[in-house]
Amino acid sequence: MEEKILILDFGGQYNLLIARRIRELHVYAEIRPYNKITLDEIQKGGYQGIVFTGGPNSVYDSDAPRFDSGILNIGIPVLGICYGAQLMAYMAGGEVSSAEGSSEYGKTTVYTFGDALFENVPTESVCWMSHTDFIKTPPPHFVITANTDNCPCAALCDPKRKLYGVQFHPEVTHTTYGKTMLHNFLFSICGCSGTWNMEDFAAASIARYRDALAGKKVLLALSGGVDSSVAALLLHRAIGQNLTCVFVDHGLLRKNEGDFVEQTFRDQFGLHLIRINAQDRFLQKLAGVTEPEKKRKIIGEEFIRVFEEEAKKLGKIHVLAQGTIYPDVVESGRGDAAVIKSHHNVGGLPDVISFDEITEPLRNLFKDEVREIGTQLGLPRELVWRQPFPGPGLAVRIIGEITREKLTLLQDADAIFREEIAGAGLEDITSQYFAVLTDLKSVGVMGDARTYGYTVALRAVTTDDFMTAEWTRLPYEVLERASSRITNEIPHITRVVYDITSKPPATVEWE
Ligand code: XMP
Repeated sequence: MEEKILILDFGGQYNLLIARRIRELHVYAEIRPYNKITLDEIQKGGYQGIVFTGGPNSVYDSDAPRFDSGILNIGIPVLGICYGAQLMAYMAGGEVSSAEGSSEYGKTTVYTFGDALFENVPTESVCWMSHTDFIKTPPPHFVITANTDNCPCAALCDPKRKLYGVQFHPEVTHTTYGKTMLHNFLFSICGCSGTWNMEDFAAASIARYRDALAGKKVLLALSGGVDSSVAALLLHRAIGQNLTCVFVDHGLLRKNEGDFVEQTFRDQFGLHLIRINAQDRFLQKLAGVTEPEKKRKIIGEEFIRVFEEEAKKLGKIHVLAQGTIYPDVVESGRGDAAVIKSHHNVGGLPDVISFDEITEPLRNLFKDEVREIGTQLGLPRELVWRQPFPGPGLAVRIIGEITREKLTLLQDADAIFREEIAGAGLEDITSQYFAVLTDLKSVGVMGDARTYGYTVALRAVTTDDFMTAEWTRLPYEVLERASSRITNEIPHITRVVYDITSKPPATVEWE
C-alpha cells in the first residue's frame, strides 16, 4: 500500500511547505484541517506518521484548535511543529506558558541533545523560530532534546510512543538541518521507504480513472495553461475519446497561441477538442470598457456563457473535470486574503452546467509536480514551462479600451519581446515577462517625419510565488534589441519603456 503522512492543519502559515518538503523526500503527504477528520478516520487511514502543524493560537485560547488526545496513543508517530508541539505537550499533560520575554522570532541557534530526530544534525545549528508561548514543563515520559538561549524546551520526545515535538520550523529553509530532521522523522521514526514518485502517481491515476470513469462522458475546459493541459492529457490516457475538451479562444491570447493549443492537443495528442473562436463576441462585450475589474468580470461571465452553450450541445455530461491544483484548494479554503484583483480562472464553472460529479485529477499536487507529470506524458516543453498567463489574457495588458487594432499591436510587441528573451536564453532567469500596451501616445520621429504613436511597456519579474516579485535585471542589450525591433517592425509604436517597479508596491500586471 502507498505510504502516506497526514499533516493535521492547525492554521499555520507554512503548512503547504511541510507537505512540499515531505514529498520532496518521496513520501506522499496530505493536509487535512484538524476539524475535518476524526480520530477514527485517522486510525483507519493507513498513515505512517502524523505532523501537527503550527498555528496562530495559544493552547489556552478558548477557541484554540484542539484534537482528540487519543491520537497520541494509536501507535502512529507524531511530529508536532511549533503550535503543534505545544498542543502535543499540553494534551499529554505538560505545561505551556506565555511568560513575557520568551518569544523568539527569526534565525536562532539551537542546541540539540541527540535523539532519533537529530541524527546527523550537529549539536549546534541554526533554526527558524516564530513563537510567543513555549513549553515550560514537558509532559510525563517526555524528555527535552533541544534548547536555545531563550527557550528551555526547543524540542522534546517520548521515544517509546514515537512522539516528537519541535518549537522551531524544520520545513523552512532557514533551519539549516530541517530537511535532515524531516528525513529522520519519515525514514527512521515512521519507517517510510520513500517510494512516492510522479511516474507511479501518473500511472496509478490513469488506472484509477480508467475504472472510475468507464462509460462516462467527461468535459474539461482547456485553456492551454499547464494545469488544464496536464489534467486533459492524464484523463485522455485514461478514457480516450470519452473526454471532450472545450477550448474557448476569447481572442485575447498571445500571438498564434490559439493555433498552437489546437495543434498540440488535437493533432499531436489526438484529443477530442472543440475550439470555439469567440473573439468577436468578447470584443463586442468589451467595447468601450476601460475599468480593469469590469473587464475581468465581463470576460469571466462571457467565458462561462460560451462554455455553457457549447456544453449543452454535447448532450449528457456525467463528469466535469477541472485542473485545480493543491495551492488553489488550500488558498480558496482559507479565503481571508483581501481581494486585490479578482482572478478569473476556469474554476468557477460548476453552477451553470448540469453534471453528476466533478473530478480534479491534480488536486493533490503542487505546480512543480504537475510539470513533472506533464513532462512524463510528453507535453511539449513550451507548454510544461509556460509562464503564468492571466485568465482575462491581454485584456488586462491593454490599458484603457480594447480594440482589435490595439490587440494586434500588443500581440506583435509581446511576441518580439518573448523572442528576444528566448533568443538570449533568459527564460529561466525571469518568472514572467510580457509587453503592455499603455494608453499613452507620444511623439516620435521617423526619417524626417514626425510620428505620433503608442508607448509599449515591457515587464519582467522574478519571483517564487507571485505574492511578491522583483523586477528582473534584464541585460541592456536584450532590452535594446527588443526596443529597436518593436519600434522598427510595428508601425504605430513609437516608444518602449521598461517597468522597474517591484511588487509591492506595484502588481505584476498593469491592470
Ligand atoms: P498581480 O498582477 O496580481 O499578478 O500581481 C500575480 C499573478 O497573477 C496573475 N494574474 C491573473 N491570473 N486572472 C488570472 O488567472 C487574473 O485576472 C489575473 N490577474 C493577474 C498574473 O499574471 C501574475 O502571474
